[in-house]
Amino acid sequence: MDDRFHGLSAADFIWPVFVRDGENETTPVDSMPGVNRVSVDLLPALARQAADLGIPEMALFPATDPALKTPNGDEALNPDNLVCRACRAIKDSGVTIRLVCDVALDPYTSHGQDGLLREGYVINDETVAVLQQQAVVQANAGCDIIAPSDMMDGRIGVIRAALDAAGHSAVDIMAYSAKYASAFYGPFRDAVGSASSLGSGDKRTYQMDPANTHEALHEVALDIAEGATSVMVKPGMPYLDIVYRVAQMATKPVYAYQVSGEYSMICAAAEAGVVERDGAMLGSLTAFKRAGAAGILTYFAPDAARVLAA
Ligand code: PBG
Repeated sequence: MDDRFHGLSAADFIWPVFVRDGENETTPVDSMPGVNRVSVDLLPALARQAADLGIPEMALFPATDPALKTPNGDEALNPDNLVCRACRAIKDSGVTIRLVCDVALDPYTSHGQDGLLREGYVINDETVAVLQQQAVVQANAGCDIIAPSDMMDGRIGVIRAALDAAGHSAVDIMAYSAKYASAFYGPFRDAVGSASSLGSGDKRTYQMDPANTHEALHEVALDIAEGATSVMVKPGMPYLDIVYRVAQMATKPVYAYQVSGEYSMICAAAEAGVVERDGAMLGSLTAFKRAGAAGILTYFAPDAARVLAA
């Protein structure tokens, strides 16, 4: 095949799914048309559906009960927390699909930040010590790919060491290496309930400044040197220049995350009759491949796989 042809297939997709408590529960995420928070008992069927469509990986995001959130995010280390139960349910069902779990404290902290706070600031090293344990707890539950999304410094190396020490050397690390502070995460924060915890706070002290380019290349190089199996750029479409540049220099596969705001924007435009949905969906996804992405995290995964198979 001509290497200038960047075809898209279901094998390129990682499907992010929001998980909730309860039984037989499917609650729509208002800001993300067609996206739901789904209870653990329904996940094996969704995983089966994804696998049958040829989607190789699912990323699980817990919408944690606010009553379980604390300043230090203790629930992150509970081996029976929502995301761990979700992993076990899918793995126990025997469906062949790889599971990706974020490592970051924001689903569990009452303030909605990704790390521990001291005097209002996220403290890097103390946070990394907790993230290391969170990674092991999730790997124990069956997670195949640990995805640190917190942007703390030095976390990849210590997480790798902790996983290896716990007997999880086969567990991969997909590092959110170039994660820019972004308004495009808005609908996601609604979906997992971190928006209300975060309030007027933001994550600009640890997520990247949208005006920076070289920092992304630097972060990627550091994460790969520390042992990342793959790296990620996010948001996606507004950062295709970064995806391209990272893909040119990285010695590991580069993933792009078409984030919640990008998804909702395309859905809103399609619903308004401004663009044709399938065309906009496939056009946006193909752009990531053209830029050099090895794969794409996208809420469109099952829809796009269905259209591609038709
Ligand atoms: C949490 C996390 C976020 C996303 C993935 N993991 C949001 C944030 O940093 O607040 C965003 C994904 C999306 O918008 O689809 N660390």
